[in-house]
Amino acid sequence: MKRLDLIAELSTWRDKAPGRVGFVPTMGALHAGHLALVERAAKECDQILVSIFVNPTQFNDPKDLEKYPRTLERDLELLKAAGADAVFLPQAKEIYNDAYRFEIREKDFSRELCGATRPGHFEGVLTVVMKLFQLARPDRSYFGEKDFQQLTLIQDMARAFFLPIEVVPCPTVREADGLAMSSRNILLTPAEREKAPLLYRTLTSAATVEEARHQLQEAGFRVDYVEEKRGRRFAAAFLGGVRLIDNVQV
Ligand code: PAF
Repeated sequence: MKRLDLIAELSTWRDKAPGRVGFVPTMGALHAGHLALVERAAKECDQILVSIFVNPTQFNDPKDLEKYPRTLERDLELLKAAGADAVFLPQAKEIYNDAYRFEIREKDFSRELCGATRPGHFEGVLTVVMKLFQLARPDRSYFGEKDFQQLTLIQDMARAFFLPIEVVPCPTVREADGLAMSSRNILLTPAEREKAPLLYRTLTSAATVEEARHQLQEAGFRVDYVEEKRGRRFAAAFLGGVRLIDNVQV
C-alpha cells in the first residue's frame, strides 16, 4: 500500500493508476463500517484510494475536534489488510491552501437535522469532499448510510457541479447489539456503551417521533432531534459528551 503524504504524490499516483479508481474518504479511527466501504470499492474498482484527514472545518466545536480519536498506525494496518492500494494523508495547510477563503454551501437540506444544531458542519464537509474529489479524481466514491444527510448532500453536490463521479451509498454497519459503527463509539464509557444501542432500538420500535424522543430522554440521552423526512426516521442524541447519530427507513 502506497502512502501519499503530499498532494504532488497523490497526483503522480493518480496519473498512473490503471482502470477505475474507487475512493473512500475518511477521518481515520477506522472500524468495520469503513472497511466495508473499502471492500465494496475493491469489488467494483481496479485501484482503491483511501484518505485519512481529520477535517477541521466540519467541527463546529473545537473540543470535539481535539478529542476526535486518532489511531493512524492501526488504521494503516487495517487498510493494508483490507486491500487498499494507496492512502492519502494530507496536512490541513495543503488542503486549505486558500487559507479557508472558499467554501461550498448548500442552502436547503444542509440547514436541517444535523445542520440545524451544528452550524457550518456541512459547509466543512462539502468543501473538503469537493477538494478531495478534485485531487483524487475518482470514478466512484463510497459513503455510509449512517451519515445519510451527508451522503445525500454529497450526491446532490456531485450532480450540481457535474462531477464525473458516481457517489455510491453503502448500508450502515452495526455492532451485534444494533449500535451503528462510528469512530466516536470508542469515546463512550462502559455504562454509556451499554445504553447506546437503545438509539437504534428506539428508532426502529417507537410508534412516533414524539414517543422515540420521550423514550430516549427517559433512558438518559440528551436528544438533539428525532425527525421523519425523506422516508426515513433520523435521530441525534448525546450520551455524556458523545454525540451519536442514526437513521432507519420508515
Ligand atoms: O464521514 C466522514 O468521515 C467525513 O465527514 C468525510 C466524508 C471524510 C469528510 O471529512
